This record gives sequence, C-alpha cells and structure tokens, in this order.
Amino acid sequence: MKIKKIGVLTGGGDAPGLNGVIRSVVLTAINDYDIEVVGFEDGFSGLIRNKYRVLERESVSEILHRGGTILGTSNRDNPFHFPVRSNGQVTYQDVSDEGVSNLKKLGVDVLIVIGGDGSLRIAKEFSDKGIKIVGVPKTIDNDLGATDVTFGFNTAVTTATEALDKLRTTVESHHGIMVLEVMGRYGGWIALHAGLAGGADVILIPEIPYDLEKVKEKIEKRKSQGKLSSIVVVAEGATPVNGKYTVDKMMEGRTEPIKLGGIGQVVAQQLVELTGLEARVTVLGYLQRGGSPTSCDRILSTRFGVMAVKQAVEGPWTTMVALHGQSVVTVSLDEAIKQLKKVDCKGELVEVARAIGVNFGK
Ligand code: F6P
Repeated sequence: MKIKKIGVLTGGGDAPGLNGVIRSVVLTAINDYDIEVVGFEDGFSGLIRNKYRVLERESVSEILHRGGTILGTSNRDNPFHFPVRSNGQVTYQDVSDEGVSNLKKLGVDVLIVIGGDGSLRIAKEFSDKGIKIVGVPKTIDNDLGATDVTFGFNTAVTTATEALDKLRTTVESHHGIMVLEVMGRYGGWIALHAGLAGGADVILIPEIPYDLEKVKEKIEKRKSQGKLSSIVVVAEGATPVNGKYTVDKMMEGRTEPIKLGGIGQVVAQQLVELTGLEARVTVLGYLQRGGSPTSCDRILSTRFGVMAVKQAVEGPWTTMVALHGQSVVTVSLDEAIKQLKKVDCKGELVEVARAIGVNFGK
C-alpha cells in the first residue's frame, strides 16, 4: 500500500522536544517520501473535532529550539471517554468513530501519536479499530518501559539540576535544610538523576519508601562533620514506609485524574520537627516541562521523528519508536504500554549514589 498522507498529533502533558519530532516528521515526509502531513490540534480533541492544519516545510521552520508544541496538546478529551456537555451536565461518551471517520475523510493513511502512556493507550485503541498507528514516546518522567529514554527527560533533569545549584547557595548561606520537590509521577527518574547531578544529600523516590528517622540521622551526621546545610530532593510520588502518595487534587475527565503534589511540604515539616532545623521548600513544578530542549532532547526527538516516518511508510504499524542502547528501534504498541519503568533500587545509579553517601531515607 502506498502511503500518501500522514497525520500527527501530540497528546498529554507537553515536554521539551515535541516540536523537534513534529519538525523531523514533516521534513522527512516531504524530503524523502513526498508525503503530505496534517497536524491535529490539541491532541485527540483535534481529531474528534476535525481541527487540523496541513504542515508544510515553513510550518516547522524555527521550532526545533522551542519548548511546548506548535500543535497544542491536551490531557483531557480521550475519544473513548469523551466529555460531552449538555444542559450544564457533563457525560462521557465513546466518540472514537468520529475520529476514525475524520481520518478516512481526510485520507490520512497513518497516524503518528506523540505521547506518554495515556496517549499511547488511546492510540492502541484506535489501532484496534483498524487505524494504522506509529507511536513516539514522550514524557519528562522517563517512565515508559519499552524505551531506555524518552525525550523531554534530559531537559527536565537539566532544569532541576540548575535549580539545585541555585538553591545550594541559599541554603549554604542560611544553613538548615533545602527541600526540592520534582515531578515524575510514580517514578523517581527525575529525582534520582537531578539529585545526583546537583549533589543532593538525600533523594526520596517512590521506588524506595522512606523513613525520615534515617534522613534525620544523615542530616545530624553531616552537622557533626561541620556541614550546616543539607539538600533533599523529593520526587512527587515518594511515599513513607507503609504510607500513601501525597495527592494535590483529583481532576475528573483527565486521562490521569490523580494529580500528585505536596510531598515536599510534608517532608520539610516533619524534618523541622525531627531535627529542630529550619527547612525551606521549593516545588519546581511546570518549570521542568518548559523552556528550550537540551541538545540531547533535540537530537533524540529528531531521530524519533525520522524513524516514525520510515515506520509509517514501511510498516509494520501498531508500533512505537524507541531508544535501545544507542539505537533507535521499533517495538509493538502492546509492548510500549505494558508497564511503567521504575528505578531499579539495586541498579547501578542507586548504588553509585549510595557509594558517595546519598541517603534514600533507608
Ligand atoms: O507526566 C508529566 C507530568 O509533568 C508529571 O511529572 C506530573 O505529575 C504531571 O505531568 C503534572 O502535570 P499536569 O498538571 O499537566 O497533569
């Protein structure tokens, strides 16, 4: 089958590098295959509402260095559970057939979905309805099991590391404890990498439930060595031993209704009580998703985009591009959404951190 038109959309939370993928998809499709690309706006919402634009060479000019996504994105509007408003009431309906019909009317042969596990699950459901899909893994959290790395992660880690460098000068001046809460959902990748790169004394991640008594011991040991300040990095999904996640709020209608947040404040307050020291808290929040992608993310997103088009043209479909070691490969979409990737508590990076004295609250 000759592929003549490719659709592309970005779903879920934005991540630095989305524009890099869009740019390389469009340029590869035009340069190598003479294929037209249409971009759906605001994720799957654009597919259902038939909001799209043709992406030409000029459409993707000067975007590689820009964060966000020129197409817009959404972590609502799942077509299989779509919010429909009537008489002030919201009900959820399966409107996926609208999406299938819009793709057919437009003559889109293959849909490239750039997203995290939520968007890729939706993509898989569309593939079950006969749509040819190629996925591209995106998330700052780096928690997709089928790829070694997702684009966006390196930029988020770099931002968090820079934040730690700045927070260090304040806590070294005032003494006491500086707590930095970082994102990552149920994985500790950002916390572990930024904590290591930023020289944190304590790193709390979901994969290693923490006991703050151990953190107190670490801080007091440092004090006895004349070190009057300590830096604690907390992943938003970190939990105490036998404890629960700290939830900021529930947000109905989203692909991921549980919004984590607030653990930084909880940990800081308890450390004040345990140590008698002053603690300051910074929640890095959306700064981790924003801004210009690092060179690593620009290159990875470009590589993923080129491979996605090759895959779209040659098949097999129902796949996702992925990084395995140094190589860009493809995996099945089933494989892609099978499980989230967790930090290995006995892995090399955790061992390296322990070897240099980082405490994990254990
Ligand atoms: O998945 C990316 C991410 O930034 C997570 O780290 C975080 O929990 C979540 O999205 C928060 O973003 P939003 O408020 O858009 O759901």
